[in-house]
Amino acid sequence: MSTEKKQKLDEIHVGNEVFVPMISEEQLQKRLAELGKQISDDYQGKLPIFIGVLNGSFLFMADLVKNVTVNCEIDFMKLSSYGEEKISSGKVKMLKELNADINDRHIIIVEDIVDTGLSISYIEKLLEPYTPASVKVCSLLLKPESLKYQVKIDYIGFEIPNKFVIGYGLDYAQKYRNLRSIYVLSE
Ligand code: IMP
Repeated sequence: MSTEKKQKLDEIHVGNEVFVPMISEEQLQKRLAELGKQISDDYQGKLPIFIGVLNGSFLFMADLVKNVTVNCEIDFMKLSSYGEEKISSGKVKMLKELNADINDRHIIIVEDIVDTGLSISYIEKLLEPYTPASVKVCSLLLKPESLKYQVKIDYIGFEIPNKFVIGYGLDYAQKYRNLRSIYVLSE
């Protein structure tokens, strides 16, 4: 098969828009192994609880905790997403609350992507009435150029440009979460 045809096979067409490969499955898994090791080192002798932010974090969370070697627990919370759009609505709503008691616990919030930082700052506000032992944030992706809120991300998988991405948990109108790698909207 010619290179031209092969490249076309790697593209994802959504209407008139084209998404092209950005971060491969191999790159993702390699970085997750590094993050898992770093977190395991940092939480020696502790029992952290990973709190995944649904829906986008479900694959990242699963692969991340497989690389963590200290005992840990997991829970999920659900926030409203972009809906059908590629641009943030600027509003966040809680759709599923935590089940776990987080007082005195070492919490690691797990996000798929930090874009404006609104979701993370919303979660930090939600945690204010509680007294966790520590709170850290782990995000697979960070778009530094689009940050609008002051948030501290403790563990970052990859910094990416301010472009819309899909795959590996990230959606476009709820689809493409099942892709094994990350694709970016080409201009
Ligand atoms: P923030 O609240 O603006 O930081 O955005 C965080 C949420 O927006 C993420 O958890 C995603 O659900 C969504 N999001 C931000 N950028 C993208 C993207 O490029 N593709 C898909 N979803 C995104």
